[in-house]
Amino acid sequence: MEDKKTIFSGIQPSGCVTIGNYLGALRSWKELQNDYNCYFCVVDLHAITVKQTPQELRKRCVELYAQYIACGLDPEKNVMFFQSHVPAHSELSWLLTCNTYMGEMSRMTQFKEKSKKAGANVGLGLLSYPVLMAADILLYNTDLVPVGADQKQHLELARDLAIRFNNAYSPTFTVPEPYIQKNGARIMSLQDPLSKMSKSSENVNAFVSILNEPDVVMKKFARAVTDSDNQIRHDIVNKPGITNLIEIYSACTGKNIEQIEKDFEFKGYGDFKKAVGEAVVETIKPIQDNFKHIMQDKAYMEKCFTIGAEKASYTANKTLAKVQRKMGLASKKL
Ligand code: AMP
Ligand code: TRP
Repeated sequence: MEDKKTIFSGIQPSGCVTIGNYLGALRSWKELQNDYNCYFCVVDLHAITVKQTPQELRKRCVELYAQYIACGLDPEKNVMFFQSHVPAHSELSWLLTCNTYMGEMSRMTQFKEKSKKAGANVGLGLLSYPVLMAADILLYNTDLVPVGADQKQHLELARDLAIRFNNAYSPTFTVPEPYIQKNGARIMSLQDPLSKMSKSSENVNAFVSILNEPDVVMKKFARAVTDSDNQIRHDIVNKPGITNLIEIYSACTGKNIEQIEKDFEFKGYGDFKKAVGEAVVETIKPIQDNFKHIMQDKAYMEKCFTIGAEKASYTANKTLAKVQRKMGLASKKL
């Protein structure tokens, strides 16, 4: 445990877990858990950067935790917890906020996109959210952060803040590296293949949840937006819809792009969409079975996340105390 490198990652409980989350993040976490010292967090404080219904959010938090386990993450091997159960995240976030510039926050792509949607009243949390993410990561001396490609810019900020703090005070934080796998790092919306598949999308046909029933999955793929030349060819510029389906199929079956193009050379979109749907159904079926099972054992989950928060707090509080001291906050002993 001691000499292993450390990993931290999290998902927001802001909707159902999509196959984008699974193929882009969760699946790689599962592979990494044997070789790294892993922290997997349900980042509930991030979810409230946009408006939530309290009862629904509370339910989604538990369900997301159960989905972590259902996807194969072992709560005994990893530290698995809720972000809000470890107050050091919020505290470090403030300390880092005071070392962050407005300019570097307002140029974040995700902020620009989300604030457009929010309309007139853009929440301050939406702007400062990447600082909280940096705090999540830096609290645990994280070496590696496995995320989808959309999080690269946020990770860059975490690195900048770590380096800035280390230079301004003294070496404190490990500077984290992103870990972005090639296959499945950016799954696109089924209705608009130019934007990423997102669990908070208003159109339910745009995303596939890992808990969707087989017939729902098949229907969503049948309706997926494509071009009309009926050729199954990977071409991100001219054929983004089909390219996305090829990538999903590749991520689920392990087949490479050339092989897939060859296999479907004489087939049409209808056949291909069916094959992609079936590959996804097969991938998520075992997760769904596990999920049902775990959701029935609340006592087990409670035990896991309580122990998880205790373990996380131990490391997090040590880092936080160091940062407070270095920044010159009032000592508890004179
Ligand atoms: P979020 O749903 O924004 O909390 O994202 C949780 C994790 O899933 C992050 O590592 C994201 O980079 C990853 N992720 C989210 N959406 C996608 C997507 N469409 N394709 C690939 N990875 C994704
Ligand atoms: N911001 C990430 C997302 O929306 C979720 C997240 C929050 C995260 N804190 C993190 C991911 C720390 C990795 C590490 O996808």
